[in-house]
Amino acid sequence: MTHRILFVCLGNICRSPAAEGVFRARAPHHNTDSAGTSGWHIGEPPYGPMQKAARARGIELNDLRARQFVAGDFDRFDLIIGMDANNIADIEDLRPAGNETPVRLLTDFAPQIGADHVPDPYYTRDFDGALDLIEVAVEGLDAHLRG
Ligand code: 4NP
Repeated sequence: MTHRILFVCLGNICRSPAAEGVFRARAPHHNTDSAGTSGWHIGEPPYGPMQKAARARGIELNDLRARQFVAGDFDRFDLIIGMDANNIADIEDLRPAGNETPVRLLTDFAPQIGADHVPDPYYTRDFDGALDLIEVAVEGLDAHLRG
């Protein structure tokens, strides 16, 4: 079954494009996209150091371009996945009345890690640590979607 999955972070240049790239490589039959709650990097490709860290694992992100999350995304996707609690709050602020699209934390799909968010490597500079967590969570997401 094909699902429509949207990954969301703050800038849409580090965590959410990385999650999208890891997920589409693993499960290419789904419709995927990513977006930022901010409009700070609209039109930009993923951040260079994140692209480099992903490429070292065989994950290509260079075709992706940042866009801002919009209320209409609630109707265009079956599942919206944020990277931290601020993302979830900013997403929920735009939920249209009556819409019931699930919004989850990516870390919900990696309970064995015990993390409650994906730390932002734009600030921590730990791009590999973010990718490690994203890879485990995407595996859990894939399993969840397979039921
Ligand atoms: P992201 O990281 O939300 O994982 O894309 C960020 C990238 C850029 C900024 C903040 C977070 N920024 O402040 O420009």
